[in-house]
Amino acid sequence: MILIIDFGSQTTHLISRRIKDLGVKTHIVLPNQAVSAIKQYQPKGIILSGGPSSVYGKDALLVDKKIFDENIPILGICYGHEVLAHLLGGKVETGVRKEYGPETLTITKDTSLFKGLNRQELVWNSHFDRVVAPPSGAQITGFTPSVSVAAFADEEKRLYGTMFHPESHHTTSGNKILSNFLIDICGEIPTDQKINREEIVGSIKETIRDDLAVCALSGGIDSAVAAVLTYKAIGDKLTCLYVDTGMMRLDETEQIIGMFKKNFQLNLEVLRAEKEFLEALKGIIDPEEKRKTVGRVFIEVFEREAKKLGATFLIQGTIYPDVIESKGSQHAQNIKSHHNVGGLPKKHGFKIVEPLRNLYKDEVRELAKELGFPHELIWRHVFPGPGLAVRIIGEVTKEKLDILRKADAIIVEELKKAGLYEKIWMGFAIFAGIKTTGVAGDERKYGETIALRVIESKDTMSADWVRLPYDLLDKISHRIVTEVYEVVRVVYDITTKPPATMEWE
Ligand code: XMP
Repeated sequence: MILIIDFGSQTTHLISRRIKDLGVKTHIVLPNQAVSAIKQYQPKGIILSGGPSSVYGKDALLVDKKIFDENIPILGICYGHEVLAHLLGGKVETGVRKEYGPETLTITKDTSLFKGLNRQELVWNSHFDRVVAPPSGAQITGFTPSVSVAAFADEEKRLYGTMFHPESHHTTSGNKILSNFLIDICGEIPTDQKINREEIVGSIKETIRDDLAVCALSGGIDSAVAAVLTYKAIGDKLTCLYVDTGMMRLDETEQIIGMFKKNFQLNLEVLRAEKEFLEALKGIIDPEEKRKTVGRVFIEVFEREAKKLGATFLIQGTIYPDVIESKGSQHAQNIKSHHNVGGLPKKHGFKIVEPLRNLYKDEVRELAKELGFPHELIWRHVFPGPGLAVRIIGEVTKEKLDILRKADAIIVEELKKAGLYEKIWMGFAIFAGIKTTGVAGDERKYGETIALRVIESKDTMSADWVRLPYDLLDKISHRIVTEVYEVVRVVYDITTKPPATMEWE
């Protein structure tokens, strides 16, 4: 297995995911756990991830030099590359501006890491500082127009660094570089990493035995798969609770209940709590406060009911990125607090079971397919935990929610009709909270603005807006202003992430 030391990069999971796809196990740990994790897991290789800090920062995140004593091959990526240079006698220089995007790497020396690559390769950069001298004993193996030490290698010590991100799909030969590291340098032998459903069900059964369990269904695929696997393990001893927050898309609650009733026999209770959520959200305009409020009320409503059932276990659809984020967020910059991560207060009195905690999203989708989930649920676009509350700029009210829901349903319907829905990451409407002037008949009409956000992404960390055909944009816009009376203006968001995030809040 390969140990990944997480310095807080947004792409640490991508590294892990790519390695899993290449048939090798990984384990992600924080820098201060590195030495003990090496003893415990005896990894065949170590990867130092990227991260937002600077090696010269006041609280620079570094790693114990003892990791270099074990003669284990090491690959440093981006900040990890800087850490290697900084700790091993090279030099890092503080940048003057952030370098972000594609660059051409010119390979100047043949090494095992770059075996089979062209002299020039397209690579993906995202950094501020840069390495200007490699570690002592290491040689420069490549440069880009902006960085003279874009890669280095010490073949004898099996130590490698890349300023760019081989895990990014924009780095054309990224997989080849990772596979060279895993197989040729670390000596890993790839094996089938396919998930074993029966094993998961068996382990749930073993844990819960004769006790009772509850599960919160969110409408998303993770909690749904966790619930169905648990149902297979313990049958009627599981009760699923679905909290209708009032922040869902048009008819979503009914669709979810209908889908569960039709496909699975499990006990499902629906808690209608729209009023409670709207009351709590009154007057709140700050996005983070909205998130925290929705999270808090959710827990209150859920706990109240769950306690009545007398359950000992709480089933959660936590997947691997959530597990790491809730532990590792101390180093990653907190861009948004995702309320489904670590949202439960510590003293809730339940024993937690997380059947999917070792899996990535695409593996959960695979399981869902095997379990017979309808295609529509599996491919439904990602929806934020706080729901439409973070798609309304300004205070959340029932009226605004209803307007937004109608506009959103039109976008989704038109994207589906155009055959584009499953080809993109997300397509949705934002209630911009800006009133502008329009005309209706001969009268002035002061009404709402709806923004369309239709984006493409491969890894959540970056996104581009979709170049929708003008005719389709026209159709969506026309339908919204005619079918949603309160709206007088529709605009299209043409911003990439970064600098914008996908959601507006
Ligand atoms: P951003 O807006 O951060 O979104 O670019 C990245 C992805 O995460 C989703 N998202 C959330 N999911 N709780 C969630 O469960 C949240 O608070 C939240 N905020 C954003 C977003 O929909 C997108 O797919």
